[in-house]
Amino acid sequence: MPSIIDISQLSVHFPLDTTTVRAVDGVDLSVEEHETLAIIGESGSGKSVLGLAMLGMLPPTSTVSGKVIYEGSDLISLSEKELEGIRGIRIAWIPQNPANALNPTMRVGDQIGEPITRHSEWTKERVHTKVLELLLKFRVLPPEERSASYPHSFSGGMLQRSLVAMGVSARPELIIADEPTKGIDVINKESVASVFKEVRNQGHTLVIITHDLAFAKDLADRIIVMYNGRIIEIGEPEVFFSHPRHPYSTMLLRSLPEKGLHPIPGRTEESMGCTSGCRFRLRCPDARDRCADEPPLISCGDRTAVRCWNYD
Ligand SMILES: Nc1ncnc2c1ncn2[C@@H]1O[C@H](COP(=O)(O)OP(=O)(O)OP(=O)(O)O)[C@@H](O)[C@H]1O
Ligand SMILES: [Mg+2]
Repeated sequence: MPSIIDISQLSVHFPLDTTTVRAVDGVDLSVEEHETLAIIGESGSGKSVLGLAMLGMLPPTSTVSGKVIYEGSDLISLSEKELEGIRGIRIAWIPQNPANALNPTMRVGDQIGEPITRHSEWTKERVHTKVLELLLKFRVLPPEERSASYPHSFSGGMLQRSLVAMGVSARPELIIADEPTKGIDVINKESVASVFKEVRNQGHTLVIITHDLAFAKDLADRIIVMYNGRIIEIGEPEVFFSHPRHPYSTMLLRSLPEKGLHPIPGRTEESMGCTSGCRFRLRCPDARDRCADEPPLISCGDRTAVRCWNYD
Protein backbone atom coordinates (compact mmCIF):
# COMPACT_ATOMS: atom_id res chain seq x y z
CA MET A 1 0.00 0.00 0.00
CA PRO A 2 1.29 3.50 -0.74
CA SER A 3 1.72 5.69 2.29
CA ILE A 4 -0.32 8.79 3.03
CA ILE A 5 2.05 10.41 5.51
CA ASP A 6 5.73 9.72 6.14
CA ILE A 7 7.32 10.65 9.44
CA SER A 8 11.08 10.45 9.62
CA GLN A 9 13.37 10.97 12.59
CA LEU A 10 10.78 13.11 14.31
CA SER A 11 11.74 14.48 17.71
CA VAL A 12 9.57 16.88 19.68
CA HIS A 13 11.13 18.19 22.86
CA PHE A 14 9.83 20.63 25.45
CA PRO A 15 12.65 22.55 27.11
CA LEU A 16 11.67 23.29 30.73
CA ASP A 17 13.61 25.24 33.39
CA THR A 18 15.62 22.34 34.75
CA THR A 19 15.07 19.59 32.21
CA THR A 20 13.89 18.77 28.72
CA VAL A 21 10.85 16.57 28.10
CA ARG A 22 11.55 14.32 25.13
CA ALA A 23 7.89 13.83 24.21
CA VAL A 24 8.70 12.24 20.84
CA ASP A 25 12.20 10.96 20.29
CA GLY A 26 13.36 9.84 16.85
CA VAL A 27 10.13 8.40 15.42
CA ASP A 28 10.00 6.89 11.93
CA LEU A 29 6.51 5.93 10.80
CA SER A 30 4.57 5.72 7.55
CA VAL A 31 0.79 5.60 7.65
CA GLU A 32 -0.52 3.55 4.76
CA GLU A 33 -3.49 4.53 2.64
CA HIS A 34 -6.79 3.06 3.94
CA GLU A 35 -5.25 1.43 7.00
CA THR A 36 -6.45 1.83 10.57
CA LEU A 37 -3.48 2.35 12.81
CA ALA A 38 -3.77 2.22 16.59
CA ILE A 39 -1.15 3.97 18.72
CA ILE A 40 -1.05 2.58 22.25
CA GLY A 41 1.16 3.06 25.30
CA GLU A 42 1.06 4.40 28.84
CA SER A 43 0.18 7.96 29.72
CA GLY A 44 2.97 10.38 28.77
CA SER A 45 4.48 8.09 26.12
CA GLY A 46 4.04 10.75 23.42
CA LYS A 47 0.96 9.47 21.59
CA SER A 48 -0.91 12.78 21.43
CA VAL A 49 2.20 14.80 20.57
CA LEU A 50 2.91 12.39 17.70
CA GLY A 51 -0.71 12.73 16.53
CA LEU A 52 -0.51 16.52 16.68
CA ALA A 53 2.67 16.43 14.59
CA MET A 54 0.70 14.66 11.83
CA LEU A 55 -1.47 17.74 11.68
CA GLY A 56 1.26 20.34 11.97
CA MET A 57 -0.30 21.31 15.31
CA LEU A 58 2.73 21.11 17.58
CA PRO A 59 2.75 23.65 20.41
CA PRO A 60 4.98 26.68 19.81
CA THR A 61 6.90 25.88 23.01
CA SER A 62 8.26 22.69 21.43
CA THR A 63 11.54 22.25 19.62
CA VAL A 64 11.13 19.99 16.63
CA SER A 65 13.46 18.12 14.34
CA GLY A 66 12.75 15.61 11.60
CA LYS A 67 10.09 15.58 8.93
CA VAL A 68 6.38 14.88 8.51
CA ILE A 69 5.85 14.58 4.77
CA TYR A 70 2.30 14.85 3.43
CA GLU A 71 1.71 15.19 -0.31
CA GLY A 72 5.32 16.24 -0.88
CA SER A 73 5.32 18.98 1.79
CA ASP A 74 6.85 18.89 5.24
CA LEU A 75 4.03 19.79 7.65
CA ILE A 76 6.62 20.92 10.20
CA SER A 77 7.78 23.75 7.97
CA LEU A 78 4.46 24.90 6.43
CA SER A 79 3.01 28.28 7.37
CA GLU A 80 -0.21 28.54 9.41
CA LYS A 81 -2.02 29.65 6.26
CA GLU A 82 -0.82 26.61 4.31
CA LEU A 83 -1.75 24.32 7.20
CA GLU A 84 -5.26 25.79 7.31
CA GLY A 85 -5.80 24.40 3.83
CA ILE A 86 -5.03 20.91 5.13
CA ARG A 87 -6.54 20.74 8.62
CA GLY A 88 -10.12 19.61 8.76
CA ILE A 89 -10.31 19.10 4.98
CA ARG A 90 -7.45 16.72 4.13
CA ILE A 91 -6.45 15.64 7.63
CA ALA A 92 -8.93 15.86 10.51
CA TRP A 93 -8.31 15.69 14.24
CA ILE A 94 -10.93 14.32 16.60
CA PRO A 95 -9.81 15.63 19.99
CA GLN A 96 -9.46 13.76 23.25
CA ASN A 97 -12.19 15.45 25.28
CA PRO A 98 -15.58 15.72 23.54
CA ALA A 99 -17.07 17.74 26.40
CA ASN A 100 -14.62 20.60 25.79
CA ALA A 101 -14.14 20.14 22.07
CA LEU A 102 -17.40 21.68 20.89
CA ASN A 103 -18.19 25.36 21.25
CA PRO A 104 -20.93 25.67 23.95
CA THR A 105 -22.38 28.84 22.37
CA MET A 106 -22.82 27.46 18.86
CA ARG A 107 -25.49 25.07 17.59
CA VAL A 108 -24.13 21.57 16.98
CA GLY A 109 -25.32 21.48 13.35
CA ASP A 110 -23.42 24.68 12.54
CA GLN A 111 -20.26 23.25 14.09
CA ILE A 112 -20.53 19.98 12.16
CA GLY A 113 -20.99 21.88 8.91
CA GLU A 114 -18.20 24.36 9.65
CA PRO A 115 -15.36 22.47 7.90
CA ILE A 116 -17.50 22.30 4.71
CA THR A 117 -18.56 25.95 4.93
CA ARG A 118 -14.98 27.06 5.48
CA HIS A 119 -13.58 25.25 2.48
CA SER A 120 -16.30 25.06 -0.13
CA GLU A 121 -18.74 27.20 -2.08
CA TRP A 122 -21.73 25.16 -0.90
CA THR A 123 -24.96 27.02 -0.14
CA LYS A 124 -26.26 27.08 3.45
CA GLU A 125 -29.10 24.73 2.46
CA ARG A 126 -26.75 22.20 0.91
CA VAL A 127 -24.51 22.23 4.00
CA HIS A 128 -27.56 21.82 6.26
CA THR A 129 -28.79 18.82 4.24
CA LYS A 130 -25.32 17.26 4.51
CA VAL A 131 -25.24 17.87 8.28
CA LEU A 132 -28.62 16.14 8.73
CA GLU A 133 -27.35 13.24 6.64
CA LEU A 134 -24.26 12.94 8.88
CA LEU A 135 -26.29 13.17 12.10
CA LEU A 136 -28.56 10.40 10.84
CA LYS A 137 -25.61 8.26 9.79
CA PHE A 138 -23.91 8.62 13.17
CA ARG A 139 -27.16 8.17 15.08
CA VAL A 140 -27.38 11.61 16.61
CA LEU A 141 -31.15 11.52 16.61
CA PRO A 142 -33.50 13.11 15.71
CA PRO A 143 -31.23 14.98 13.29
CA GLU A 144 -33.28 18.21 12.87
CA GLU A 145 -33.68 18.68 16.60
CA ARG A 146 -30.08 17.76 17.42
CA SER A 147 -28.71 20.02 14.71
CA ALA A 148 -30.49 23.00 16.28
CA SER A 149 -29.38 22.12 19.84
CA TYR A 150 -26.40 23.27 21.87
CA PRO A 151 -23.77 20.76 23.09
CA HIS A 152 -24.78 20.92 26.80
CA SER A 153 -27.94 18.90 26.09
CA PHE A 154 -25.93 16.00 24.57
CA SER A 155 -24.79 12.83 26.36
CA GLY A 156 -21.08 11.89 26.26
CA GLY A 157 -21.65 9.27 23.57
CA MET A 158 -23.71 11.67 21.47
CA LEU A 159 -21.00 14.36 21.75
CA GLN A 160 -18.38 11.85 20.64
CA ARG A 161 -20.51 10.79 17.65
CA SER A 162 -21.08 14.46 16.76
CA LEU A 163 -17.32 15.05 16.82
CA VAL A 164 -16.81 12.12 14.47
CA ALA A 165 -19.50 13.57 12.19
CA MET A 166 -17.65 16.90 12.24
CA GLY A 167 -14.33 15.14 11.60
CA VAL A 168 -15.60 13.37 8.48
CA SER A 169 -17.86 16.17 7.16
CA ALA A 170 -15.36 17.55 4.64
CA ARG A 171 -14.30 13.98 3.69
CA PRO A 172 -10.66 14.21 4.84
CA GLU A 173 -8.47 11.34 3.67
CA LEU A 174 -6.80 10.95 7.06
CA ILE A 175 -8.57 11.12 10.41
CA ILE A 176 -6.65 11.14 13.67
CA ALA A 177 -8.74 10.43 16.77
CA ASP A 178 -7.27 11.00 20.22
CA GLU A 179 -8.75 8.68 22.86
CA PRO A 180 -12.19 8.38 21.25
CA THR A 181 -13.50 6.03 23.97
CA LYS A 182 -12.19 7.91 26.99
CA GLY A 183 -14.86 8.36 29.67
CA ILE A 184 -17.47 6.51 27.64
CA ASP A 185 -19.51 3.65 29.12
CA VAL A 186 -19.53 0.17 27.61
CA ILE A 187 -22.72 0.58 25.60
CA ASN A 188 -21.68 3.89 24.08
CA LYS A 189 -18.23 2.45 23.45
CA GLU A 190 -19.78 -0.13 21.16
CA SER A 191 -21.56 2.59 19.25
CA VAL A 192 -18.31 4.60 18.94
CA ALA A 193 -16.58 1.45 17.64
CA SER A 194 -19.29 0.91 15.05
CA VAL A 195 -19.05 4.56 13.97
CA PHE A 196 -15.30 4.17 13.41
CA LYS A 197 -15.82 0.91 11.52
CA GLU A 198 -18.22 2.73 9.26
CA VAL A 199 -15.70 5.54 8.72
CA ARG A 200 -13.02 2.94 7.95
CA ASN A 201 -15.30 1.09 5.52
CA GLN A 202 -15.84 4.34 3.63
CA GLY A 203 -12.14 4.30 2.77
CA HIS A 204 -10.79 6.91 5.20
CA THR A 205 -7.37 6.27 6.69
CA LEU A 206 -7.56 6.25 10.47
CA VAL A 207 -5.04 6.82 13.22
CA ILE A 208 -6.55 5.99 16.60
CA ILE A 209 -4.67 6.98 19.73
CA THR A 210 -5.96 4.93 22.62
CA HIS A 211 -5.44 3.38 26.02
CA ASP A 212 -8.29 1.04 25.24
CA LEU A 213 -6.58 -2.13 24.03
CA ALA A 214 -9.84 -3.96 23.32
CA PHE A 215 -10.92 -1.08 21.08
CA ALA A 216 -7.53 -1.15 19.31
CA LYS A 217 -7.79 -4.91 18.82
CA ASP A 218 -11.29 -4.61 17.43
CA LEU A 219 -10.46 -1.89 14.90
CA ALA A 220 -6.82 -1.73 13.95
CA ASP A 221 -4.89 -3.24 11.04
CA ARG A 222 -1.64 -2.30 12.71
CA ILE A 223 -0.64 -1.59 16.30
CA ILE A 224 2.10 0.87 17.22
CA VAL A 225 3.38 0.69 20.80
CA MET A 226 5.05 3.81 22.17
CA TYR A 227 7.24 4.06 25.21
CA ASN A 228 8.89 7.29 26.38
CA GLY A 229 8.62 8.98 23.01
CA ARG A 230 9.85 6.03 20.96
CA ILE A 231 8.12 3.35 18.91
CA ILE A 232 9.09 0.09 20.59
CA GLU A 233 6.89 -2.34 18.68
CA ILE A 234 4.91 -2.47 15.46
CA GLY A 235 2.63 -5.44 15.01
CA GLU A 236 -0.50 -6.81 13.43
CA PRO A 237 -3.31 -7.28 15.97
CA GLU A 238 -3.79 -11.04 15.42
CA VAL A 239 -0.17 -11.72 16.36
CA PHE A 240 0.45 -8.79 18.68
CA PHE A 241 -2.34 -9.54 21.15
CA SER A 242 -1.49 -13.23 21.44
CA HIS A 243 2.31 -12.99 21.09
CA PRO A 244 3.61 -9.53 21.92
CA ARG A 245 7.37 -9.32 21.43
CA HIS A 246 8.72 -6.45 23.49
CA PRO A 247 8.85 -7.12 27.28
CA TYR A 248 7.00 -3.81 27.75
CA SER A 249 4.19 -4.91 25.40
CA THR A 250 3.92 -8.22 27.27
CA MET A 251 3.58 -6.38 30.56
CA LEU A 252 1.15 -3.85 29.07
CA LEU A 253 -1.14 -6.67 27.91
CA ARG A 254 -0.85 -8.45 31.27
CA SER A 255 -2.02 -5.25 32.96
CA LEU A 256 -5.44 -5.62 31.31
CA PRO A 257 -8.33 -6.37 33.72
CA GLU A 258 -9.20 -9.62 31.88
CA LYS A 259 -5.59 -10.79 32.34
CA GLY A 260 -5.73 -10.18 36.08
CA LEU A 261 -4.58 -6.54 36.19
CA HIS A 262 -0.86 -7.06 36.84
CA PRO A 263 0.50 -3.51 37.11
CA ILE A 264 3.76 -2.78 35.32
CA PRO A 265 6.39 -2.36 38.07
CA GLY A 266 8.13 0.98 38.30
CA ARG A 267 6.90 4.24 36.93
CA THR A 268 7.30 5.85 33.53
CA GLU A 269 8.97 8.84 35.20
CA GLU A 270 11.74 6.53 36.40
CA SER A 271 12.72 6.09 32.79
CA MET A 272 12.25 9.75 31.87
CA GLY A 273 15.86 10.54 32.65
CA CYS A 274 16.87 7.51 30.63
CA THR A 275 17.89 9.11 27.35
CA SER A 276 20.24 6.47 26.04
CA GLY A 277 20.09 2.74 25.46
CA CYS A 278 16.77 0.96 25.82
CA ARG A 279 14.44 3.43 27.58
CA PHE A 280 12.60 0.53 29.28
CA ARG A 281 15.65 -1.15 30.76
CA LEU A 282 15.16 0.23 34.29
CA ARG A 283 11.79 -1.54 34.49
CA CYS A 284 12.56 -4.56 32.33
CA PRO A 285 12.76 -8.07 33.80
CA ASP A 286 14.99 -9.16 30.87
CA ALA A 287 17.46 -6.24 31.08
CA ARG A 288 21.12 -7.10 30.36
CA ASP A 289 24.35 -5.13 29.98
CA ARG A 290 23.75 -4.83 26.26
CA CYS A 291 20.53 -2.83 26.89
CA ALA A 292 22.70 0.17 27.76
CA ASP A 293 23.21 0.37 23.98
CA GLU A 294 20.30 1.69 22.00
CA PRO A 295 18.47 -1.16 20.24
CA PRO A 296 17.28 -0.35 16.72
CA LEU A 297 13.76 -1.19 15.55
CA ILE A 298 14.46 -4.76 14.42
CA SER A 299 12.27 -6.13 11.64
CA CYS A 300 10.52 -9.41 12.48
CA GLY A 301 8.91 -9.83 9.07
CA ASP A 302 6.48 -7.88 7.00
CA ARG A 303 4.88 -4.97 8.91
CA THR A 304 6.23 -6.10 12.28
CA ALA A 305 9.23 -4.80 14.19
CA VAL A 306 10.49 -4.58 17.75
CA ARG A 307 13.05 -2.40 19.50
CA CYS A 308 14.66 -5.01 21.76
CA TRP A 309 18.02 -6.80 21.72
CA ASN A 310 16.18 -10.10 22.42
CA TYR A 311 15.34 -10.12 18.70
CA ASP A 312 18.76 -9.34 17.31
N1 LIG B 1 2.82 21.59 25.77
C1 LIG B 1 3.63 20.82 26.51
N2 LIG B 1 4.60 21.33 27.30
C2 LIG B 1 5.43 20.55 28.01
N3 LIG B 1 5.37 19.19 28.01
C3 LIG B 1 4.41 18.63 27.27
C4 LIG B 1 3.49 19.39 26.47
N4 LIG B 1 2.66 18.53 25.82
C5 LIG B 1 3.06 17.30 26.19
N5 LIG B 1 4.09 17.36 27.05
C6 LIG B 1 4.78 16.21 27.66
O1 LIG B 1 5.18 15.36 26.62
C7 LIG B 1 5.03 13.99 27.03
C8 LIG B 1 4.14 13.25 26.06
O2 LIG B 1 2.84 13.82 26.15
P1 LIG B 1 1.59 13.26 25.37
O3 LIG B 1 0.46 14.17 25.68
O4 LIG B 1 1.93 13.05 23.96
O5 LIG B 1 1.38 11.84 26.08
P2 LIG B 1 0.25 10.75 25.79
O6 LIG B 1 0.95 9.48 25.44
O7 LIG B 1 -0.72 11.31 24.82
O8 LIG B 1 -0.40 10.59 27.23
P3 LIG B 1 -1.95 10.37 27.63
O9 LIG B 1 -2.20 8.92 27.37
O10 LIG B 1 -1.99 10.71 29.08
O11 LIG B 1 -2.80 11.28 26.79
C9 LIG B 1 4.50 14.03 28.45
O12 LIG B 1 5.58 13.90 29.34
C10 LIG B 1 3.87 15.39 28.54
O13 LIG B 1 3.87 15.86 29.88
MG1 LIG C 1 -2.69 11.90 24.98
